Amino acid sequence: MRPGLQLHRRALLGGTAALAVAAALPALAATGHEARIQGLLKAMTLDEKLGQLNQPAGGRQKALNSRIDAAALDLVRKGGVGSYLHVAGADFLRELQRVAVQESRLKIPLLFAADVIHGFKTIYPVPLAMAATFDPDIVQRCSRMAAIETSVSGLHWTFAPMVDIARDPRWGRIVEGAGEDPHLGSAMAVAQVEGFQTKNLSGKDAILASTKHFGAYGAASGGRDYDGADLSERTLNEVYLPPFYAAAQAGSGTFMTAFNDIGGVPTTANQALVRGVLREQWGYQGLVVSDWNAILELVAHGVAETPVQAAALALKASVDMDMAGGVYVAHLRQAIAEDPTLLPYLDQAVVRILRAKARLGLFDDPMRFGDAAREKTELLSADHRALAREAARKAVVLLRNDGGLLPIASSHKTIAVIGALADDARSQLGSWKARGEEADVVTLLKGLQGSAPAGVKIAYSPGVSVRSDDASGIPAAVETAKAADLVLLVLGEDFDHSGESRSRSDLGLPGPQVALAQAVAATGKPVVIVLMNGRPLAEPAVLDKAPAILETWFLGVEGGNAMADILWGKVSPGGRLPVGFPRASGQTPTFYAHNPTGRPADPDLLKDTARYHDADIGPLFPFGHGLSYASFAYADLAVDRASVAPGGIVKISATITNTGKVVADEVVQLYVRDPVASVARPVKELRGFTRVTLKPGEARRVTFTLRPEQLALWDASGWKIEAGRIEVMVGASSDDIRLRGGFVISAAGKGSAPAASLLTAVSVS
Ligand code: NOJ
Repeated sequence: MRPGLQLHRRALLGGTAALAVAAALPALAATGHEARIQGLLKAMTLDEKLGQLNQPAGGRQKALNSRIDAAALDLVRKGGVGSYLHVAGADFLRELQRVAVQESRLKIPLLFAADVIHGFKTIYPVPLAMAATFDPDIVQRCSRMAAIETSVSGLHWTFAPMVDIARDPRWGRIVEGAGEDPHLGSAMAVAQVEGFQTKNLSGKDAILASTKHFGAYGAASGGRDYDGADLSERTLNEVYLPPFYAAAQAGSGTFMTAFNDIGGVPTTANQALVRGVLREQWGYQGLVVSDWNAILELVAHGVAETPVQAAALALKASVDMDMAGGVYVAHLRQAIAEDPTLLPYLDQAVVRILRAKARLGLFDDPMRFGDAAREKTELLSADHRALAREAARKAVVLLRNDGGLLPIASSHKTIAVIGALADDARSQLGSWKARGEEADVVTLLKGLQGSAPAGVKIAYSPGVSVRSDDASGIPAAVETAKAADLVLLVLGEDFDHSGESRSRSDLGLPGPQVALAQAVAATGKPVVIVLMNGRPLAEPAVLDKAPAILETWFLGVEGGNAMADILWGKVSPGGRLPVGFPRASGQTPTFYAHNPTGRPADPDLLKDTARYHDADIGPLFPFGHGLSYASFAYADLAVDRASVAPGGIVKISATITNTGKVVADEVVQLYVRDPVASVARPVKELRGFTRVTLKPGEARRVTFTLRPEQLALWDASGWKIEAGRIEVMVGASSDDIRLRGGFVISAAGKGSAPAASLLTAVSVS
């Protein structure tokens, strides 16, 4: 190993106790699998062991299975493959598995993996939009649906959930996660793991989850994908790691390491983080897979000189499986010859891979996944489409509605739909479409056309493409607007502006969309902006003054129907922003849970304070923001005790009343603040939320049960609970706090888990 790789292990390890993730593993010994696994390990040649660590691509993302040729089958026969990714199809995978379990010496089944990120065939909203539901239950149900479709297609494993916290919208992969907040991110992580895996992988159609990309991939410098993260131990532990911890506790069968480095140490070689924190501190026993070719990329990072060194580093860090790189299979033999102390690491990796196969029941019945008959009935079934529609409705966020432009008034008889995204089926599928097909998508235009009330005309003009400079469609769009009573102006990004390696330096509207928006606004017609995008956008010229803005992300196959439901007023929007929208690209990153400074931002520019002179303070639309067709009153905050000691609980209750005229959802949010501590604490941190449906006039009492451990802060000694006063805030968004109270933590203490990862029980009565 090269010098410099003795990482800041001590600091990272801190004092956190090893935790009982092991409990999530079923008792393999009891089922007889452990003996079988140990027997196999003894019987395996070195090449067969290396084969288990090998996960080649069986195809390409756009051409699944395309690389399974005669040579690939031969390699399977020789025991040279442990798993394939980018494969699918019940019949195809059954035959591939047959070769492994009938024609290889040790008859070890293969693991088949794919990126099923927001649906397999029934594509539901992109993960950022799913987080906007603020509804773990619908997230869990959608993951379950995806798992059913995935498993009947012969696959065992999805590379989801992605739980990377993203505070910089320039980063294109913000679309794949739950946004800026570690508490919301933890809840979404758990919901997905439970949906994919069922309890302990025991349920029907359970598949392995892969929580990714451990540990600070979302903190890439400047929001440039793959770039390094340089962040404090505190931020790493308090902000980036909590969702990973929550997913590990929920039993996530596998983890994937990030491509990038933290302070110069690529995670794929980070012994302190992967072996130290994940395995030793958290007690994680599952399978860890590298990201695509990331082991070989350790050479490009400059921490290994040769692929042999790269392989040794990753193995020592506790990365079990090599995705697509072929480095382990090609170079570990030499690495082990040079350093026989690597052999036990190899055996550990093999055992973890075999255990993953055993947990899925593949040693008992290697063909238990994949069912060609069920493929025909489950994929894109009516039930699945209905669930995708429910999720899409819940994900829509009403950002502004001045003058009540929405829902569309019944007096409006001609509705102009302007913007190419309105009928862009591919974009509506979002960044990861697995087996989703454009033909199955109901676009916004189709959804409106299919549901317009009698006598209402939908007039469409694409205006401009988001991908070209051609503004020649603007005059026709203006004519369409002039002839209408109301304009729905559809603006944003296409599916390929966000996602992997799709970072952007400018968060503005691409193409000639600003010119289109200005020309349409100049008609004087009432305009509702419908945004479609995979990241927060910042386009002051358009967004600052628009009277009505509806955020719809990329909503999947049922998106058009769901948007129509909201626009016509059949359903009230209730989604909330999982990440704030900055006012300008240069204000990035901006996030609500920032620390106070000695000179807090002040509107008075004559004062020297922490702000930009050319932009107002804070985001345009903050975390947690979202409006409704109803209104809600918050009253009667009660904190059930004045003080609480570590280990105790405190209950915080409030009454929420629908004061509007329609049935609607409200997302009630609990924030906390530690106003005086040994280090500056965030001005606000989410620690609880619930989405409630209320009829007009209906009132509900919402009670959050909080623990002092959820206020713990990270320092070199681990999770520390400090005595003192805690402020609590209950409200409708991070900047719409309606009720305030507090309690005192009566004594100092220790926490054992990342504070933000601890989910808050909420009751509604
Ligand atoms: C690279 C991506 O970073 C990862 O998220 C994905 O799962 C793999 N490619 C496999 O497609």
